[in-house]
Amino acid sequence: MRSIEHIYVNGEFVVPAGNERLNLFNPTTEEKIGDVRLGNADDARAAVAAAKRAFPAMAASTKAQRIEMLRSLRDAIAERPDELAQAMTEEYGAPAYFTTFSLQNAASVFEVMAETVANYDFERIVGKSAVKMLPRGVLAAITPWNSNFGFIATKLAHAIGSGSPLVIKPAEQSAFQTDILVRRLHQAGLPAGVFNVVNGTGPVVGAALTEDPDVATISFTGSTQAAKIIQRAAIDSMKRVVLELGGKAPTIILPDADLDRAIPVALMSGFANSGQACVAGTRILAPRSRLTEIAERLKIETGRFRVGDPRDPDVRIGPLANPAQWERIQAYIRLGIEEGATLLTGGTGRPAGFEKGWFARPTIFTDVRNDMRIAREEIFGPVLCLIAYRDEDEAVEIANDSNYGLQAYVLGSDLRQAEQIAARLMAGRVVINGAPHDPRAPFGGFKQSGIGREIGAFGLDGMLEPRAILTP
Ligand code: NAI
Ligand code: MG
Repeated sequence: MRSIEHIYVNGEFVVPAGNERLNLFNPTTEEKIGDVRLGNADDARAAVAAAKRAFPAMAASTKAQRIEMLRSLRDAIAERPDELAQAMTEEYGAPAYFTTFSLQNAASVFEVMAETVANYDFERIVGKSAVKMLPRGVLAAITPWNSNFGFIATKLAHAIGSGSPLVIKPAEQSAFQTDILVRRLHQAGLPAGVFNVVNGTGPVVGAALTEDPDVATISFTGSTQAAKIIQRAAIDSMKRVVLELGGKAPTIILPDADLDRAIPVALMSGFANSGQACVAGTRILAPRSRLTEIAERLKIETGRFRVGDPRDPDVRIGPLANPAQWERIQAYIRLGIEEGATLLTGGTGRPAGFEKGWFARPTIFTDVRNDMRIAREEIFGPVLCLIAYRDEDEAVEIANDSNYGLQAYVLGSDLRQAEQIAARLMAGRVVINGAPHDPRAPFGGFKQSGIGREIGAFGLDGMLEPRAILTP
């Protein structure tokens, strides 16, 4: 049992003014593992004030200074990876293969940002004017539980790269990993107030940050629903927003696909992070001519996906993060049945042999029409839809017929043809044939998947304002 008592403000660990507590549970065992003392609106304001004081020096920092800060953060985060991985698994049941990826990626975002800063033109001559890219003030970052420390790392890298001090409101359920991470980041020895961390709920601390007139930019990752509340609240002070939101990614299996390769990739994408991933490929689009064969293979291969203790490196699907997530998944499975889709595999309840833990059955629906709610809404669990298409034009049409546009996947033997299909998709990223993660590619979505992009020069652009000086 552990209690997280502190928040991090102005370079110090302090007890928050807020005194409510949130209990933390291990989703694998359903046991209480600790609690966290939550900050309130006063804590949020104190953190913003500290960040505001740090702004002039941060804004004036040189490229070399920012790069040095980024590299010390990178080194701090890379220490003792097991400790962070264990916290992620304990807190929300992240499977080991996913924590390994997240840890490597979190260290790499600082390095990628250091490279970006080195190559970025903060000062340019445009027309006859001297243009300088300036940080606009305090940045507030709000992160989700499904990749809390990864997004803290990403948003902190953007803050430092752009010269903007930061206040982070982490996911309240992720207090252990946040605490470990912040203690590491503290060791990097950045000036006081450059980054601050306030535990708390969205409606209290998140809302206080969104409404604070001294916050210039909000960088949010989470649900489209919360993002709409945030963006509405941000309008009064005309805050800039960068929003990385939900998805309903299509996975197009082309008629020439080699199923030995395509099926495992489709399932790894669909069930990524136990299905609790914004980039999960949850709509599998299959050519009608091969539908029976593809359905059969999906069913067989899903049976090989190990569900269980997320600490086991062979486990692909761990528990859902909390009982609300479990109930939500059950409700969507019932909805799919009511809407007339057919269960190809899985269904409601826990998988056989599980008496406790918030485990759901890996589920695939077939006979799904793209206008059904299970095909349109982000379910955020291990529930996939198999949708048939007639020809490639129809595949593209179905893929793009979504309120979301974060990620898409294309699987086929002819790479040129796969690229031609990819070029017709409205998604922030299109991954062909299980290509590995590219830590330098821009990340973000079309439509209700978000506003703006993170990573690299696109990420920095979103944090900066151009000022042009015109001389006679
Ligand atoms: P959420 O979007 O409510 O939470 C994400 C973050 O936003 C948390 O730090 C939360 O405290 C904060 N937040 C919530 N309401 C806020 C407000 N009014 N103002 C400021 N900050 C606020 O997600 P939640 O409730 O944890 O999960 C519900 C569903 O949202 C999931 O089942 C999933 O469908 C979706 N979701 C999607 C994510 C993605 O990466 N696409 C990430 C997390 C959730
Ligand atoms: Mg919520």
